[in-house]
Amino acid sequence: MSTKNAAEIILEAAGDTPPTFGMVLGSGLGALADAVEDAKHIPYADLPGFPKPTVQGHEGQLVLGRLGGVSIAMMQGRAHYYEAGKADAMKGPIRSLQAAGCKSLLLTNAAGSLVKGAGPGSLMLITDHINFAGTSPLIGEAAPTRFVDLIDAYSPDYRAQLHESARQQGVTLNEGVYMWFSGPNFETPAEIRAAKILGADAVGMSTVPEVILARHLGLKVAALSIITNYGAGLDDMPLSHAQTMEKAALAAQDFKKLAIAFFEGQAND
Ligand code: HPA
Repeated sequence: MSTKNAAEIILEAAGDTPPTFGMVLGSGLGALADAVEDAKHIPYADLPGFPKPTVQGHEGQLVLGRLGGVSIAMMQGRAHYYEAGKADAMKGPIRSLQAAGCKSLLLTNAAGSLVKGAGPGSLMLITDHINFAGTSPLIGEAAPTRFVDLIDAYSPDYRAQLHESARQQGVTLNEGVYMWFSGPNFETPAEIRAAKILGADAVGMSTVPEVILARHLGLKVAALSIITNYGAGLDDMPLSHAQTMEKAALAAQDFKKLAIAFFEGQAND
């Protein structure tokens, strides 16, 4: 058994191109890993503190390489709060990415839309969030750094750049507020009506704890939702993980174009 920590293993595998940008791929988006150049794959099982994925569609490996000219560390698979009731389930990976040199994080997820016209297969840039799960991954962290400011948690810089990349690529990119529900059950129609009244544009079961962990570490964050369905009760489709996986594929090409163009912009900065 190696005594190296995850960051050391990542740095050793990355050789002379240590990662500067971390990425987390949500349900059904694993195919973006195929676009990574000079890819090196490290199974999470070899990375202390990384999760054992239990969700179908989450591969459970870290992909190192270049995307649009940027050295990235792409997590193909995440841990969710609902798997074991731990809001800080992604603390190990996010800390390791930062320790390996990542200064920024691009998060992605599958989400249900609350906005008519922004249906399955569309992309939503997250501008802000509502934490409806009632917990925080920072519970138990030391004062005073645990009192993290979440104004502009979703970098205004990156938001502008992602809109610019979307425009260049002819990709429609909506934007809005993401509301975090604990899951693993989907929401009730009454919860979806409440979410809308409270100001949400999309709902999902991930990402928010990762944003909080990343901001605690001072990482610059951007996040994108791939809309896989309308929220419960907004249309007559039943909700299922199979549908999430299938509909995420609808947006996969747009998402890939957008992500690569965004990273090209970062590389040229
Ligand atoms: N609710 C919560 N999480 C989701 C949904 C949803 O409707 N769709 C995909 N992930």
